[in-house]
Amino acid sequence: MDSTEIRIQGLEFELYIENEAITAAIDEIADQLNHHYGDHSVNILVVLQGAETFSNYLLPLLKFPYKTHHTSIKTYHGLASGLEMKMDPPHLHISTDKPLLILEDIVDTGFTLNYLFDLLKEHGIEHIQLATLLFKPDSLRYPVQPSYIGFHIGPEFVVGFGMDYQEEGRQYEDIYKLKPAAE
Ligand code: IMP
Ligand code: MG
Repeated sequence: MDSTEIRIQGLEFELYIENEAITAAIDEIADQLNHHYGDHSVNILVVLQGAETFSNYLLPLLKFPYKTHHTSIKTYHGLASGLEMKMDPPHLHISTDKPLLILEDIVDTGFTLNYLFDLLKEHGIEHIQLATLLFKPDSLRYPVQPSYIGFHIGPEFVVGFGMDYQEEGRQYEDIYKLKPAAE
């Protein structure tokens, strides 16, 4: 375990989910995936950078054959139409003849995953499932329903186990949540 409190760029975070509980939840997801996919070949798309730590632990536990793909998606405020997405690489080359499993660190409003789902369906991929380490159901604003969920959490902001605050804090092995501002 890391320390029970950390500070990033002046903000205080407190220990929330310990590494042992995180890995136990991922073991459970791996069992479900192994059961679901059997011996089918699968494409796996890892959404960087947040889901990298999750995927590093999960992928070696999977028994079916798979090929991994990576994409990095950033949401930014466009000039005219509000939120826009920037994908790197801009085009995904994923075969349409296999089911696709997306690995994400956290589904918050669902904006990112809704965008990705639409894009992949346009691309012709029919069978898409989503596994997310964390899910914030109270924050959801788009029709995204993960099939595999490590933990349901409240709307609080979290860091650690791959998740960042302004690109810092990804390295902690436990997950921390932002402490309410002191009165
Ligand atoms: P969404 O599009 O609102 O579902 O959120 C998209 C992305 O925002 C997630 O994939 C994360 O990378 C990031 N994000 C959302 N909530 C948190 C958080 O609590 N901590 C760190 N990153 C977050
Ligand atoms: Mg993410």
